[in-house]
Amino acid sequence: MSINVLGIESSCDETAAAVVSDGREIISNVIATQVPWHKAYGGVVPEIASRKHLEFINPVVKKALTDAKLTLNEIDAVAVTYGPGLVGGLLVGLSAAKAIAYSRDLPLIGVNHIEGHIYANFLAYSELEAPLVCLTVSGGHTTLLFIEEMGSYEIIGQTRDDAAGEAFDKISRVLGLGYPGGPAIEKAAKDGDSQAFSFPKALPDELDFSFSGLKTAVINMAHNAEQKGEKVDINDVAASFQEAVIEVLVEKTIKAAKLKRVDRVLLSGGVASNQRLRDQLDKACAKEGLALYYPPKVLCTDNAAMIACCGYYRYLKGDRAKWDLNADPRLGL
Ligand code: KG4
Ligand code: ZN
Repeated sequence: MSINVLGIESSCDETAAAVVSDGREIISNVIATQVPWHKAYGGVVPEIASRKHLEFINPVVKKALTDAKLTLNEIDAVAVTYGPGLVGGLLVGLSAAKAIAYSRDLPLIGVNHIEGHIYANFLAYSELEAPLVCLTVSGGHTTLLFIEEMGSYEIIGQTRDDAAGEAFDKISRVLGLGYPGGPAIEKAAKDGDSQAFSFPKALPDELDFSFSGLKTAVINMAHNAEQKGEKVDINDVAASFQEAVIEVLVEKTIKAAKLKRVDRVLLSGGVASNQRLRDQLDKACAKEGLALYYPPKVLCTDNAAMIACCGYYRYLKGDRAKWDLNADPRLGL
């Protein structure tokens, strides 16, 4: 008999629910995006996000069950993101999950959003095994993890300032490319010359990252050009910026894999859907004899299938959340 886990995710600007069977098979995967409501403000407005989650959560959960052709009677556990993220959004998903689990006497499983992103890879490659090095790049995180065995995470590198996705979003806003910034920069970069500008690539010691210097350099360049009345090719700026970010991500990831003597590398998080990053990391890993894994693009950005998948493995280990489980906006791994 298979085990069906209902996953719920509401940590940022996507309200999502999914049903995953045996941690591997996605039976349904519903994502209600809030992009149209945040677009006008150039970024996620937490208050709007909470209100939209409240509006979307019940229809999204219902649709996940309908798409799966299942009723709650056939669900074995409810897994929910309880952090990190925006507290208002987290509370909406958490309350919905608790209500469903409590009323149906189902186990409730709290999932760390970042761990969920890592597990998106296990939906795609169920045979994947530790030890691994994982680069997690999202709107809130840029982290290199050494995963000696599943469930044990050693942070071996992280950003000292902005997350990579955050830098994409800020530069996109400055260049007038809109929100969400990552896909907008990637699109503009396709028509640009990545060698047109040479932006600084901060390479702090060890495996840490820093993107604030790069971000400031791009912003200063754009403002100076504007003041002088000079026209810069936005596509060239986008391509040169994207290349600078990717070069650093690739270099540090390869360094981490060598340091930890692993031969498998994982990529996860929203920025992992960037094709140029995938291609460049693919090339670098192939050169070093490393196997690279990344999830399909729909599972890189926020979704509930990854939460259900991670919840399934926690369920097998006997992890059960108490009814007073609270949202933790700064939850660490
Ligand atoms: O994982 P995610 O959906 O949400 C967080 O947990 O933060 O990641 C969202 C981030 C945003 O900063 C977005 O701009 C970035 O991922 N992103 C991308 C791309 N798609 C999303 N960055 C670069 N290229 C993309 N194609
Ligand atoms: Zn995320």
